[in-house]
Amino acid sequence: MHDDQFRQLLDRFNLAWSGYRKVRKGVKKRISRHMQTLNCPSMQAYLDLIKQNKEALRECELRLTVSISRFFRDRQLWDGLEEDLLPGIIKTHPRRLRVWSAGCARGEEVYSFKILWEHLKQTHTHLPALEITATDKHSAYLDQAREGIYTPGSLKEISPEMRERYFKSRKRGNRFNIKAFVKADIDWKVQDIFAVPAGSEFNIIFLRNNVLTYYKQPLREEGLCRVTKALIHHGWLIVGSHEKMPAGVSNFRRHASIPWVYYREA
Ligand SMILES: C[S@@+](CC[C@H](N)C(=O)[O-])C[C@H]1O[C@@H](n2cnc3c(N)ncnc32)[C@H](O)[C@@H]1O
Repeated sequence: MHDDQFRQLLDRFNLAWSGYRKVRKGVKKRISRHMQTLNCPSMQAYLDLIKQNKEALRECELRLTVSISRFFRDRQLWDGLEEDLLPGIIKTHPRRLRVWSAGCARGEEVYSFKILWEHLKQTHTHLPALEITATDKHSAYLDQAREGIYTPGSLKEISPEMRERYFKSRKRGNRFNIKAFVKADIDWKVQDIFAVPAGSEFNIIFLRNNVLTYYKQPLREEGLCRVTKALIHHGWLIVGSHEKMPAGVSNFRRHASIPWVYYREA
């Protein structure tokens, strides 16, 4: 597939060419295969077909979606959360802590947070009641997240001791299954960031490696605004390590020492 054809498709969904830089080859392949299955000889024929056929549209959106993730992605962030940010938040909110992972893919980010919380139990005599919501646009990813089975590649930031403690090793296929106590008490929901909110009054929201990377402006800003409306005043927003706040957003201040973490000022 030529770049200009791929651009045409991305434009149809308001997706950003730059966001797909590293994954373009693979996504193009997935789309080309779909075009072949549907007997579409050109991008225009494909665009016409997905306009009329809801199933083909849904499949095309899924093939355009990048769902790459891993446990403790951006290690510096998780160290900063454990050592610096969370102890302070827990002091300020001793009763209840609400956390939302928006665009959670197969659950690696949410389970990383749950593992971090288990660590905090060792150093804190009292922790607030934790309420975690994890959402994604695609139900298939959430089904896999609930199942919680991962390849060794997703666990490369996890030490052997942690792996022993939080995962069951599955003999067949060299896979690791997250243990039931880590899976417990997570509210999984299918939700499109551009549609209804997943809840409100969150203390911490993870919005990493989705709207701020893969969508074009003004959708980046719109997605960000929709999500951050659900954040409490003085709540924390966590973005991906290659992501920036859109220029029009002014009510957030960057955390002094943990990159990618923003504090909502108003
Ligand atoms: C690359 S993964 C990021 C996973 C995790 N947040 C991380 O940083 O490791 C992006 C996820 O965002 C989801 N996503 C993309 N657009 C979305 C939207 N409009 N609403 C909800 N989820 C969306 C995708 O389905 C995918 O699972």
